[in-house]
Amino acid sequence: MKTSRIAIAGFGGVGRATTSLLLSRRERYREVYGTDMRLVAVCGSRSGVKSADGLEEEQLSTLEDGLSGPAFIEESGADILIEAGPSDFRTGGPGLGYLHSSLSAGRDTIVISKGALVHSGRELRALAKGSGAMLKLSGAAAAALPTFDLVEHSLKGCEVLEVDGILNATTNYLLDAMTTRGIGFEEALREAQLGGFAEADPRNDTDGWDTACKLLILANFGLGADLTMSDLTVAGIQSVTAERIEAWRGQGLVPKLVGRLWRENGAIRAEVGIRTYPLADPLANIRGKDKAIRIVTDAMGETLAIGSGKEPLATAAAALKDLEHILAVRTV
Ligand SMILES: NC(=O)c1ccc[n+]([C@@H]2O[C@H](COP(=O)([O-])OP(=O)(O)OC[C@H]3O[C@@H](n4cnc5c(N)ncnc54)[C@H](OP(=O)(O)O)[C@@H]3O)[C@@H](O)[C@H]2O)c1
Repeated sequence: MKTSRIAIAGFGGVGRATTSLLLSRRERYREVYGTDMRLVAVCGSRSGVKSADGLEEEQLSTLEDGLSGPAFIEESGADILIEAGPSDFRTGGPGLGYLHSSLSAGRDTIVISKGALVHSGRELRALAKGSGAMLKLSGAAAAALPTFDLVEHSLKGCEVLEVDGILNATTNYLLDAMTTRGIGFEEALREAQLGGFAEADPRNDTDGWDTACKLLILANFGLGADLTMSDLTVAGIQSVTAERIEAWRGQGLVPKLVGRLWRENGAIRAEVGIRTYPLADPLANIRGKDKAIRIVTDAMGETLAIGSGKEPLATAAAALKDLEHILAVRTV
């Protein structure tokens, strides 16, 4: 029986859900991969807990001050890091330090936050390549909706010509409520905030930045592009008024906030903004908090995926899907 040692940095909603799911699946890892899975460390911004023998759920309720940061993960002896801290694409966020240290040391790394991947993607890819570490990022690229896996596995060998993605659950909920129930932006936002899936400051979602981050990660890590945020045109849903919705309705069109990739003169281009779809188009019928992606390739035509997992479980499951992909390679 092999042993895999996991550390989790970032112990909020997603980090905790990932931890619980990981512990509950230990028997599966033993049976399928012949691996004794040990959770050797978890930490938040200021505190953490570690044990070389593996932590149990009841040891996770008291974290010790001062046990946090990339050096703490190093000391834990983890072979695999799951990073689930806050996302900040303008600075890379705390994730950047963890990823830098982990990939430099050759540690396989599963990333859930988007910031560092957007801010320093090229450098992180080079570090992983140099050290031989596997870098997995399903949780950062729309999580419950398969995006990266589609181009990496299902459509492998095909050339991706075009992508249309409804990649942000909050804005889809808001637009759907505004178009199907005729309520205003403010009322729809209040509903989403009460439901706990819109932030008190929703601008990262409503201004299109969250969609842009996911799109850029897909383009750079999945399609071999080398885009920065300044290469993208990014617009959010602010311009969608009741009058515009009414006008679109008259033309049989439904507005969606879409991240779009396409090829132009041999390069990949990207933009985020409102696109309208005729009622018969599947993308017009993505409801509530669902997300969707349509990928057009040269040889396999059009592929459509729709995702609707409940958070934070769905993101935790996406990260652990990445873990199984790592185990499948490392435990042969
Ligand atoms: N929530 C979702 O449905 C969802 C879906 C997909 C992706 N994501 C991404 O997943 C990540 C986590 O989301 P969340 O909802 O779990 O956020 P959250 O509840 O705010 O948790 C963030 C965690 O990161 C920790 N943290 C902050 N700075 C840190 C540092 N320097 N070192 C270690 N930990 C640090 C915080 O620690 P303290 O507790 O000490 O402050 C907290 O435990 C975000 O990047 C988000 O974009 C979330």
